[in-house]
Amino acid sequence: MIPKETIEEIRARCDIVELVGAYLPELRRRGSTYKCRCPFHQEKTPSFTVNDARQIFHCFGCNAGGDVFRFVMDYEKVDFVTAVSMLAERVGVEIKYEGGSPGQSGNKDALYKLHADAAAFYHRLLLEGTEGAEARRYLEERDLPVEVIKEFQIGVAPNEWEGLLNRALKKGYTTEQLEAAGLVVPSDRGGQVGFYDRFRNRIMFPICDQMGRVIGFSGRIMNKAEKGAKYVNSPETLLFRKNRVLYAFDKARKAIVDSRQAIVVEGQIDAIRCHQAGLSNVVASQGTALTENHARLIKRYADEVVLVLDADAAGLKAALASSEIFIASELSVRVVTLPEKEDPDSLIRKRGAEALTELVKDAVGALDFLIDAFGRQEDMKSEAGRMRAVQAVLNLINLCPSAARRDQMIHTAADRLNISPLALSQDLRRAKKRKPVARKEEETPPVPVEKKSYPKQETALLELLVHYYHDVHPFVHDYLPPGHLTDPACRQLVEILMLDPPETLSGDLHDFSEETQRIISRVMAEESKTIDSETSAVELVQRYILLFWKRHLEQEQANLAQRTDISNEKRFQESTRIRQDLYTLSKGWNSATTAMLGLRLHTDVDF
Ligand code: CTP
Ligand code: MN
Repeated sequence: MIPKETIEEIRARCDIVELVGAYLPELRRRGSTYKCRCPFHQEKTPSFTVNDARQIFHCFGCNAGGDVFRFVMDYEKVDFVTAVSMLAERVGVEIKYEGGSPGQSGNKDALYKLHADAAAFYHRLLLEGTEGAEARRYLEERDLPVEVIKEFQIGVAPNEWEGLLNRALKKGYTTEQLEAAGLVVPSDRGGQVGFYDRFRNRIMFPICDQMGRVIGFSGRIMNKAEKGAKYVNSPETLLFRKNRVLYAFDKARKAIVDSRQAIVVEGQIDAIRCHQAGLSNVVASQGTALTENHARLIKRYADEVVLVLDADAAGLKAALASSEIFIASELSVRVVTLPEKEDPDSLIRKRGAEALTELVKDAVGALDFLIDAFGRQEDMKSEAGRMRAVQAVLNLINLCPSAARRDQMIHTAADRLNISPLALSQDLRRAKKRKPVARKEEETPPVPVEKKSYPKQETALLELLVHYYHDVHPFVHDYLPPGHLTDPACRQLVEILMLDPPETLSGDLHDFSEETQRIISRVMAEESKTIDSETSAVELVQRYILLFWKRHLEQEQANLAQRTDISNEKRFQESTRIRQDLYTLSKGWNSATTAMLGLRLHTDVDF
């Protein structure tokens, strides 16, 4: 669907070192390649390699690997087309899709456009004309100046049933698209299906994805007297997944990366106020429970999360639930409890940004927060009360994947609960035995580790072919039929390398299956252990050729024993021939061997 030239242009404009470096600030030059710890599995020492010259990445730990597109696919968990369009946006290439029938991604494009248009429409309505007057007054009262309104593209939905609907239809959108975007709702008037605007007479906050594209809306009521929910939000759509988005993440990303910290508040207006006051690493959960998806998103850019929540019981519960999720994702968590009846917006308005900055600075760790909460609820002097606290603490510690952090937490908890760290860690071990993996982790592991394995010897042959092409190619070409390789991906690659030099492989990487891409990137990454100084590439390739022939002949012999369609005499003849060949092979590479191989190569042995 995307023209090949466009894909090539995007690839040419993307530098893999720059791209990966933007995602993984740890990336450092080490000799001829770049390295850092792998984002696709957990490790302490870097085995994730980026090769500048070949424009590929490869992890020697988990065997992830590929080109720029593959990196974005794996990292952002998106399909190829989405990865291409994300990179296109990054490097400023416009994609013109081919073909008349837009597939899913075509639909998505139209939905992005529709959201962008709707946001612009609501925004214009707020800034201009009489229709926006009430909204302008409301925002002024709330002390949200026009610069902020523009920065967050705040708007207002018209006070009509079909305000957006009619304008969008006029612009050429269909009711299907509007419904798919959640902007209109079907109505059933006397058996006749119609549609009306979901958002009417509300302050509109566009919700953007990480790249700043509008994917949904949250609409706040302006007038207390009016009936209806305080906030109406977009439903789940193809673009909008509530449990994945954090409001203002696109605007906060840079500050989050710089500070390695994300501050999570509840409301849009809270987040906006924080940004306005110069606290730029703030995002809003928009009143929903935080999920593993949110944690994973933050974990890419930050090491620490500071949760800012209401002082009420609901806030406490939310803080505890969120702490668990973030701790299981290996993020440090601290919690700010706001003064009663305040939210970040009201606090900053009354006492300035410093008031919040102070609270953030003094925020307590999740474990302390938990123990404090128990201290308020339970009599910590009673045995039973203390034991309940211990149990809760152990549950939390148990969620933490890192042993070092668990140890740190045990010490903190031991101190606070006045129990020896030894006793606590013994209890922890027993708790772990009873419940080997915490439930949450079991359902969605923080980082899925799926180590792919390779046919080692066959990839070793490929390594030789790629790195010592001119020395090795003639031998493989003359003596090894690719069919003797058992791994389909390796076989395909050897076939290609018999016709074309290795450079072709990295050029057309995305044409291959994921499996094959991994093998190519592994083979191309310059860390070949195949070749040592004692053996030359030519000697090595000869050994591999003999090895694969041996394997092939042994297989043939095994097959022979199973066959019922040939005479015993024939079976005996073949068996003898195979044994002789194996004997020849066992003598190593010499003229008798090459003569035998040459002969077998040209006489089809399949009878
Ligand atoms: N929320 C929601 N639906 C509701 C109420 C709240 O989606 N019916 C979400 C909104 O994202 C809101 C957040 O939960 O911003 C927090 O709710 P609340 O504290 O009631 O609102 P505030 O953000 O303080 O909004 P305001 O200051 O305008 O009252
Ligand atoms: Mn508020």
